[in-house]
Amino acid sequence: MNRAKTIIVSNRLPVKIVFNGEQMIYQSSEGGLATGLGSIYKDGDNIWIGWPGAIINEETKQEKIADDLTDRNLSPIFLTEEEYNKYYEGFSNETLWPLFHYFPSYANYSDENWNMYKAVNQKFADAVLEVLKNDDQIWVHDYQLMLVPQMIRAKARNAKIGFFLHIPFPSYEVFRLLPWRDELLKGLVGADLLGFHTYDDSKYFINSCQRILGLTTNSNQLFIHDKPIIADAFPISIDFDKFNSLANDPLQKPHEENIVKRKGKAKLMISVDRLDYSKGLINRLKAFDKLLEQNPQYIEKVVFVQLVVPSRDTVKQYADLKEEVDKMVSNINSKYSTLEWVPIHYFYRSFSIDLLAALYKTADIALVTPMRDGMNLVSKEYVACKTDETGVLILSEMAGASKELNDALVINPNDSNKFVKALVHALEMPVDEQRQRMRSMREIVSRFNIHHWVKVFMNRLEDVKVLQRKLSVR
Ligand code: ADP
Ligand code: F6P
Repeated sequence: MNRAKTIIVSNRLPVKIVFNGEQMIYQSSEGGLATGLGSIYKDGDNIWIGWPGAIINEETKQEKIADDLTDRNLSPIFLTEEEYNKYYEGFSNETLWPLFHYFPSYANYSDENWNMYKAVNQKFADAVLEVLKNDDQIWVHDYQLMLVPQMIRAKARNAKIGFFLHIPFPSYEVFRLLPWRDELLKGLVGADLLGFHTYDDSKYFINSCQRILGLTTNSNQLFIHDKPIIADAFPISIDFDKFNSLANDPLQKPHEENIVKRKGKAKLMISVDRLDYSKGLINRLKAFDKLLEQNPQYIEKVVFVQLVVPSRDTVKQYADLKEEVDKMVSNINSKYSTLEWVPIHYFYRSFSIDLLAALYKTADIALVTPMRDGMNLVSKEYVACKTDETGVLILSEMAGASKELNDALVINPNDSNKFVKALVHALEMPVDEQRQRMRSMREIVSRFNIHHWVKVFMNRLEDVKVLQRKLSVR
């Protein structure tokens, strides 16, 4: 049967290849996009096109990987070392990432990287065009592939194309710094529907299209030669049931008991991040240091578990950050540790979802305090695992999630005094208040879950096509 399918396209596949000597192992990828869409791509004939996380040059290996992944509805795109360096590390993570996260001084503008970004975007677009059939819908994801919508449109005029940006879209004043701002916007408006995490992000995008491309707009509609396309907010979420059930699973008990035994009478605070300057690790460590300095009564009464997963570690700012975090953790630990107690337990590696869920469930406080974040799924995963409705979430107002999780203790990570106050508030919060706040956050995350997100986005994509037909532009 020839059914319409959804083609998902993203830089990274939800599965990555790691090597154990010569042996190839398939593991789940970390990061919001992979974990967010990981639950839904397997339906029907859907297919997910992306990079499998390792540079593989040998053709026989590439064929084997493609073969292995077909059963999982995954179609790998292989990157050469040069493509990886210039498109992924270079333009994506040394130019777009810092600029879109409001770190313009970290942004590096290189023509060579830009040219490679164009070439690799074309490679992804060609892979889509190869499998595209008439009624298929295409869903392109994230900042690594912003030119792909228009590249597909150029060859498949009537294609149904959605695009979702998983990171913030910056205000016009920041976006305009990019030498290739026109080309990027022209690439994006090849889509019929453009999704952002927050209302502000979508407005900033529309504003840039007006000012840079001179497009006519009407509320969330933009007109491309009279054809309407839409830009709107679609806050991403998680598979609430998956995390909730895991947290309720009796098989998880040994993990949880182990953590509870180890923390003893102390309160457990956790943070879970990729190692990234946008995640606010330094400000968080400073606030923790200040908490202990100003409130010595918490010595031996609080344990901070910081899980950090390695990320983009060949990019300079990431390598520098790793050194800084190592140093700060060691300074704080040497300053406050006692023979019975170490304040920070710092892990620089990936954790299994079982262990992650057990940590979320047993943690009294979760610290999610990025300097800037598109959404931040960790905050929602924590809430989903707090099945007894206790626990406190401290959340940065710079994360998209703060627009939905109003019952968190919302802070500005640059305001160290208020940060410390929020830590004290969290440590002292009565259980009744915790329950009231957590219950309402759980309701939000459970209702507006990942399935809801996919459904709303896809329905809206269909609506845009109907609208375009009605205006008989096509
Ligand atoms: P980003 O997309 O910027 O990485 P998110 O908070 O949206 O940020 O998503 C991060 C995802 O990566 C979450 O699903 C989280 O569970 C996972 N993750 C982060 N750190 C680790 C870790 N140390 N081990 C396993 N998973 C992790
Ligand atoms: O959510 C933003 C994002 O860049 C995703 O596109 C990506 O999967 C995740 O963070 C992790 O980054 P990377 O793929 O560079 O490891």
